[in-house]
Amino acid sequence: MKPIYVGLCGVGTVGGGTATVLKRNAEEIARRAGRPIVVKMAANRDLDRAREVCGSDVTIVDDAFAVVNNPDIDIVVELIGGTTIAKDIVLKAIENGKHVVTANKKLIAEYGNEIFARAQEKGVIVAFEAAVAGGIPIIKALREGLTANKIEWVAGIINGTSNFILTEMRDKGLAFADVLAEAQRLGYAEADPTFDIEGHDAAHKLTIMSAIAFGIPVQFDKAYLEGISKLDATDIKYAMELGYRIKLLGVTRRRENGIELRVAPTLIPQKRLIANVDGVMNAVLVKGDAVGATLYYGPGAGAEPTASSVIADLVDITRLHTADPEHRVPHLAFQPTQLADLPI
Ligand code: NDP
Ligand code: HSE
Repeated sequence: MKPIYVGLCGVGTVGGGTATVLKRNAEEIARRAGRPIVVKMAANRDLDRAREVCGSDVTIVDDAFAVVNNPDIDIVVELIGGTTIAKDIVLKAIENGKHVVTANKKLIAEYGNEIFARAQEKGVIVAFEAAVAGGIPIIKALREGLTANKIEWVAGIINGTSNFILTEMRDKGLAFADVLAEAQRLGYAEADPTFDIEGHDAAHKLTIMSAIAFGIPVQFDKAYLEGISKLDATDIKYAMELGYRIKLLGVTRRRENGIELRVAPTLIPQKRLIANVDGVMNAVLVKGDAVGATLYYGPGAGAEPTASSVIADLVDITRLHTADPEHRVPHLAFQPTQLADLPI
């Protein structure tokens, strides 16, 4: 069967992981998707790295628009990050009638409403499982697994870098700056790590989950956010002595007058499961009216865990591609809502 051809924009941490896992698990992925999923073209600033990771069968370019404008490409995977060229690439891909997969939470949280509206007009899918909580399939859980529920609240540790820093400071007594440097070396941190340590990245993710859970537009500008950069070893030590752990927690819930969206360092009793989520691990708790409280746990960042989510989206889209058109259900498409802009 004809493969689905993927165009990779950005072959850094996540792009590299995606190319590697697609090659390594090609057989399983093809079986699950119903046809092979193959990287045909990749754009990266560092051409040598892209060649080394993707192999000689892949056309390597430095211009991401060459990927997006290539008529042979079925799905564009945006893994460059940020909201400048990444936004232009995604909008151009949609305009060209291509489906898009992205791990870019900043892009979805800040421009998702515009992007999803354009995608809906063109009848294409923009999928973003990897944008929230790395390897945890939380978007699928919220949108599909919990679809019967009225969601009451979502709370989670959703920034791996911050959690890694807090854990290493607590357990090894390391300095904030040294642990941050290690998180950068391991590929966990954002290109600008301020986004991690000041709570922006967690707020981006929380905003996306909130939109799905409550059927509201993405409203990042309404989120309250506070990061971990003002914490020091003394805070962590005293919290422990009092029987607590400090976690950067994102919480979104229904309130009488709207939806709350808040990211802040939070004291959690040591006995709670979520207090024991350490290192780069993330955890998301979701309370639904029918199911009660459910917990999702796993690696929140890193090359292959994030690739796992990127590829899950590729497989889902491929299944849609191969389905009888009359029976296609665009369940991955973000459902724009007619609800009023709720006060947060
Ligand atoms: P990286 O910086 O490792 O990778 C980005 C890649 O894109 C780099 O190779 C970069 O090249 C390349 N690039 C930048 N600008 C261009 C351009 N104009 N044309 C072509 N290539 C370009 O980032 P990550 O892989 O870590 O992150 C990618 C996305 O995934 C981001 O949106 C991030 O938020 C998200 N994400 C990251 C996770 C992680 O664990 N790292 C987890 C979940 C989501 P160069 O190096 O030369 O700048
Ligand atoms: N910088 C992010 C984190 C990557 O540390 O959680 C995963 O989204």
